[in-house]
Formats: sequence, structure tokens, C-alpha cells
Amino acid sequence: MKRVITYGTYDVLHYGHINLLKRAKALGDYLIVALSSDEFNAIKNKKSYYTYEQRKAILEACRYVDLVIPENDWEQKISDVQKYQADIFVMGDDWEGKFDFLKDYCEVIYLPRTPDVSSTQTKKYLKGNKNAQG
Ligand code: CTP
Repeated sequence: MKRVITYGTYDVLHYGHINLLKRAKALGDYLIVALSSDEFNAIKNKKSYYTYEQRKAILEACRYVDLVIPENDWEQKISDVQKYQADIFVMGDDWEGKFDFLKDYCEVIYLPRTPDVSSTQTKKYLKGNKNAQG
């Protein structure tokens, strides 16, 4: 069984996320998503709209996702790959080259990011339209 692992915040889940998760799962048999905790987002100066528990529940309902674990710091990737016996590490290509140090432990694949959609963009749009009707 081939295990795939990927990382992210996955706030206000959108089709760019689904596209990434679908392709990541297709690379193997079992997909693990390491989901940024609210504390880790704070370290990154990010604030998600949904809490960790809400984002986790949404991801767990996605057919491509087999397991959601917390991401609490930048340093846990090597130990996660070992602990969960991941064969492949996947990220969108906005992270191209950033995690090549994991090549000593597993295959590292950067997938093309879906154009023109992001959580930040969606939240900005919704904020600007919060009083709009219909
Ligand atoms: N991703 C993607 N295509 C997009 C948006 C995200 O392939 N249009 C991928 C990222 O490359 C990453 C994963 O989805 O591998 C989770 O990304 P995340 O940072 O949670 O999503 P973004 O929408 O990029 O969030 P933000 O706007 O807060 O940066």
C-alpha cells in the first residue's frame, strides 16, 4: 500500500483544494493530510475562518482523505513521514523546492496549483459582500 502525505491550512475548502487532494490520492492508496493547527496558523500570522476542528471535520468528509493529523510546527515533517510510513510527500507548486530535504526519506512531488482560487481570495470577496442580499 502506497501512502501519500500532504500539508496545509485548508480553510474555506475550495475546488483548488479538492483538485490537489484528488491528484494526491491518485498517486497512492492512502492519503494523510497534516492540517495546520490554529496555534501553528498564529505562528505563521494566519487566521483561519474555520477552527481546526471544523476544518478537520470538513476534510474527513472528503472521499480522497483517509486521515487528518495536526501540523503544529515546521519541524515535524521528517518524523511524520517516518511515523506514518509515507512513500510520497505532495504539495502544490507554490512550495516548489521548499521541501526537497525530504527526498532522503520519501518521494517529493509538487503538483501544479489550480489557477485563480485561494482561501485568502475567497475570504476577501466574502468580506466585501457581507451585507449583500441574495
Ligand atoms: N492549492 C492548490 N491550488 C490552489 C490553492 C491551493 O493546489 N488554487 C494547494 C496548495 O498548493 C497546498 C494545498 O492546496 O498544497 C493547501 O493550500 P492552502 O494554503 O491551505 O490553500 P490556499 O487557498 O492557497 O490558502 P491561502 O489563500 O490562505 O494561502
